Amino acid sequence: MLFRAHLLSPHGSMVLRDIPDSAMVVDAAGRIAAVGTFPDVAAAHPGEPLLDLRPHWILPGLVDLHSHLPQYEAVAMDGEELLPWLKAHIFPAEIRFEDPQWAALAARIYFRDQLALGTTTTVVYGSVHLEATHRAFQEAETAGIRTIMGKVMMDQHSPDRLREDTDASLAQSEELCAAWHGRDGGRLQYAFTPRFAPTCSMALLRGAGRLAEKHSAFVQTHLSENLDELRWVHELFPAAKDYTDVYAGAGLLGPRTLLGHCIHLSPSERGVIRAAGAAIVHCPRSNAFLKSGIMPLRRWLDEGLTVGLGTDVGAGPSLDLWAEMAMACTASKLRWADQHTQGRRLDGLGLPEADRARIHQALGLEPDPPIAPAQAFALATLGGARALGMGDRIGSLEPGKEADFIVVDPARVDPAPDRGPEPAEQMLGRLLYRSRPAMVRASYVRGRLCHSQDA
Ligand code: GUN
Ligand code: FE
Repeated sequence: MLFRAHLLSPHGSMVLRDIPDSAMVVDAAGRIAAVGTFPDVAAAHPGEPLLDLRPHWILPGLVDLHSHLPQYEAVAMDGEELLPWLKAHIFPAEIRFEDPQWAALAARIYFRDQLALGTTTTVVYGSVHLEATHRAFQEAETAGIRTIMGKVMMDQHSPDRLREDTDASLAQSEELCAAWHGRDGGRLQYAFTPRFAPTCSMALLRGAGRLAEKHSAFVQTHLSENLDELRWVHELFPAAKDYTDVYAGAGLLGPRTLLGHCIHLSPSERGVIRAAGAAIVHCPRSNAFLKSGIMPLRRWLDEGLTVGLGTDVGAGPSLDLWAEMAMACTASKLRWADQHTQGRRLDGLGLPEADRARIHQALGLEPDPPIAPAQAFALATLGGARALGMGDRIGSLEPGKEADFIVVDPARVDPAPDRGPEPAEQMLGRLLYRSRPAMVRASYVRGRLCHSQDA
């Protein structure tokens, strides 16, 4: 099939490629066979059936690296910070996944909503329950979304109805991995999912690391999100140098490891994460909602850390990764403004230069340039794919890749109906800051139509 539309995609170095009258050929196996200008590609593929999508755009599908399926019903429960919020709102929602029928229905709604918002790859935390996670995988298989998922593991400091026996947690996780990892030509994969250090014994963390290694599966967990959480981890694991060292010591850090949040990392922790090739998942709406902090995205990127984006539902309010991109930009602007303002205030105190410079340095007041929409979009597509070690398969629209793409109608979020040609970055800004489900006309995974507004 030859798709004709305005094409926008990161490529290679994450620079945007913008082809106003483009053609993309997708073969029967769901791979991209050609991308280029319409006249060139059409001439090289005579007789190829044509789907003319103009005036819509085609973009790579979005990659959501972190969210919690059983928490969807508990979004927007405002008030507490992380630890009391988990207790008051999240654990009760996760207990409901004792019921596999509810889990199946919740999963159907979840994947439908993700596809409708343009997410074609999703990395998901289930609940602790074996059967619920089987049912969620079955729903992902049917929905067609590319899914990396795992059942949550926790064997301490959790409610009685969610706390697992260590060996049972490991055995059930391995059973799920055996059933689903690599299914449908690798569209479904397994992630061993120790929730976070406080709810996991060292034996459970080590076991999860061992199993992930044995099966070449993913690992996902939370790291350095909230200051009370950090203090608790220091109490629970006094032998560890820092929070990251708990996971390093358990053998959990590697190139298939996704670390949610990572707001309060020290320089040496960042060094360990970078050396391991593990990826950081930035969840800016969740970080704002739970008052966890502003992750210094620009700094982490400049240091060469691998970063992608996650909605972190239910601390994030929706599965809308466009809004997450917007918040990544907004948070980086607020950080810039705060650094700038504090720096000016410090200058106004009239301190001796040596003191002024020392405080400036200690508080990190050198303003970090904000993140632009095009950069946030690259993080949500090719950046996410690279965080998964799948940068050669998805994340951009290039020949040889699998055809995970979305059809977008920018007019749905444009207050000016007569807008002429403009830089693609400006159009992207409106998609991010003004996102609405109606703008995503269709979502394809490996060339298969998984969502359509026209259906
Ligand atoms: N840390 C441990 N569990 C969770 C969770 O469910 N959500 C968030 N945001 N952080 C966590
Ligand atoms: Fe989370």
